[in-house]
Amino acid sequence: MLRNELTEFLHIEYPIVQAPMAGGVTTAELVAQVSNSGCLGMVGAGYMTPIQIREQIREIKRLTSNNFGINLFVPNEFNVTENEMELANQILQPFRDQLNVQPNEPLKIPHSNDAYETLKEQIMVVIEEKVPVCSFTFGVPTKEIIALLKKHNIILIGTATTVQEAVAIEEKGMDLVVVQGSEAGGHRGNFIGGFQESLVGLMSLIPQVVDHVSIPVIAAGGIMDGRGLMASICLGAKGVQMGTAFLTCTESGAPRVYKEAICKTTEDETIFTRAFSGKWARGIKNKFMLDMQKHETSLPDFPIQNTLTQSIRRAATSQKNLDYMSLWSGQSPRLAKNQTVETLIKNILSEAKKIIRNFKN
Ligand SMILES: Cc1cc2nc3c(=O)[nH]c(=O)nc-3n(C[C@H](O)[C@H](O)[C@H](O)COP(=O)(O)O)c2cc1C
Repeated sequence: MLRNELTEFLHIEYPIVQAPMAGGVTTAELVAQVSNSGCLGMVGAGYMTPIQIREQIREIKRLTSNNFGINLFVPNEFNVTENEMELANQILQPFRDQLNVQPNEPLKIPHSNDAYETLKEQIMVVIEEKVPVCSFTFGVPTKEIIALLKKHNIILIGTATTVQEAVAIEEKGMDLVVVQGSEAGGHRGNFIGGFQESLVGLMSLIPQVVDHVSIPVIAAGGIMDGRGLMASICLGAKGVQMGTAFLTCTESGAPRVYKEAICKTTEDETIFTRAFSGKWARGIKNKFMLDMQKHETSLPDFPIQNTLTQSIRRAATSQKNLDYMSLWSGQSPRLAKNQTVETLIKNILSEAKKIIRNFKN
């Protein structure tokens, strides 16, 4: 019923991709269950070490023989001085005090090149473990990385927030493009234009990208059910990538308080912040985001700010304190449910079938 060139290319039954969600959400159980249900499970591996990635891949392979994928971060250039880091650290100290967290060890200024080295090591694991699909966000990987992955017949997916980014992804030889509308939960994937310019709504973004690229387009942002899937397909997408809808599923690794918070949130309660990581991301508004708003534009870039807030996020999670956790969520939280992956997918498919039947009448 919903088979098309995307499902054929990815060797899946239904055109649904579970969004990679870095930070512990995409457990082996979640990814494998999605793939076992005929969709594509994806590991959010951006923050994982090569060893952790290998372990998780092997665990997933024990749980499914179907296709799944790995998602990695393309490193961005960043510059930070000792003074800027010290200032950001001072701004964060009252939050650490509040949570009884020890002050951070003095941080060594990281170098952008270190992140490239890590990416190369992560990619070697993807190749050695013969993972069939690899997607990227925050940019397009280098020519060499693309050529290496293609030599090993790995399907490559890029993330775009504008037509220009989607065209760049196609030109660099990637196979598929995820278009991320401004509704999307988590970090913005923009890499050419600025954050403000990247905030195109999905309904505008899909048809404009579809008119300018010939690779299949996967829609992401606020899609939670069969209506979102069919709307995306009507606009020209070949499939959807859903994050928040899978995050609240039983199999996801998100803490219970986080899942409950999403299920209680309304569409007007998510905002953008760069206070947690140094990169703009959409999440449920909380005390940390609001208190940090006055410093927002002067904070160090990703991944520095992310490292600086790590102890705060960890302590908040272990204390189940929603005020200081990063609660990434898309703009459709009212449609989120705590249910199994099987139920979520079954419902999406039956809604889609109903819509198709209605069209025919
Ligand atoms: C908790 C969370 C973590 C995310 N982490 C990643 C990631 O590591 N890599 C990535 O490409 N996208 C990531 N995203 C963005 C998703 O790929 C996708 O764009 C988004 O979930 C779509 O919006 P939705 O949440 O409303 O479905 C994340 C989203 C969420 C909610």
